[in-house]
Amino acid sequence: MRKQIAAANWKMNLSLLQAEELVKALLETDLLLNEKQLAIFGVPFPYILPVKQLLNGKKNVFVTAQNCSANKNGAYTGETSAEMLESIGLKYVIIGHSERREYHHENNAELAQKVNIAMDHHLQPIFCCGESLPIREAGTQNSYVEIQLKESLFHLSADQIRNFIIAYEPIWAIGTGKTASSEQAQEMHAFIRSVMAAQYGQEIADTISILYGGSVKGANAVEIFGQPDVDGGLVGGASLVATEFAAIINSLKK
Ligand code: PGA
Repeated sequence: MRKQIAAANWKMNLSLLQAEELVKALLETDLLLNEKQLAIFGVPFPYILPVKQLLNGKKNVFVTAQNCSANKNGAYTGETSAEMLESIGLKYVIIGHSERREYHHENNAELAQKVNIAMDHHLQPIFCCGESLPIREAGTQNSYVEIQLKESLFHLSADQIRNFIIAYEPIWAIGTGKTASSEQAQEMHAFIRSVMAAQYGQEIADTISILYGGSVKGANAVEIFGQPDVDGGLVGGASLVATEFAAIINSLKK
């Protein structure tokens, strides 16, 4: 079975002390991760190393960055390179979150560059896609998401796409308390898998973990993660509460 993943996206929240307390509280709960299940913490840059330290020796639990630069290195004040993330021992990086697309004008072509540079540095992208409310209301969400995938991922080889991680996050469900129904999530996840299968073949598409994001909480995780093409979640608000995120981790498919 492909990997089932609970990924936290803390966004720009918490002090260092609060961050450490949150991770310690989580580690004190019983996290029931088998070898096909992962928990990944997407934390602000200053907390990557302290959180990594706290997770040291824990199986199947990783810390990650929420972004990396599309450029290799040089005069890019305020940016963080994939090379830097690799050099501190990271294995994953979130790329193309809708908040980066909206507030930092990241487009599909730039995200293709970020995907490339991340993979050059042995970082597995957690590649985000998803439509806004007007697109959903117009009923054109499938073609919109298909273009995001095509323009940012289709230049990759089949080998690079094997075991890839995609997060489908309908923008209308992010931080709104409005979750896609499990049917809506399954429908889009199956569509994403079919798009990847048309390009790379079914066998490769079946290795891709497709996470759902948008108001996932302890109370709805079992139902959403129970859908056949939903392989876990990318979680914002609820990942800031230890008991909630622990419940989400423990809702991953066995
Ligand atoms: P949310 O955020 O869980 O707070 O809706 C999800 C995300 O933006 O990754």
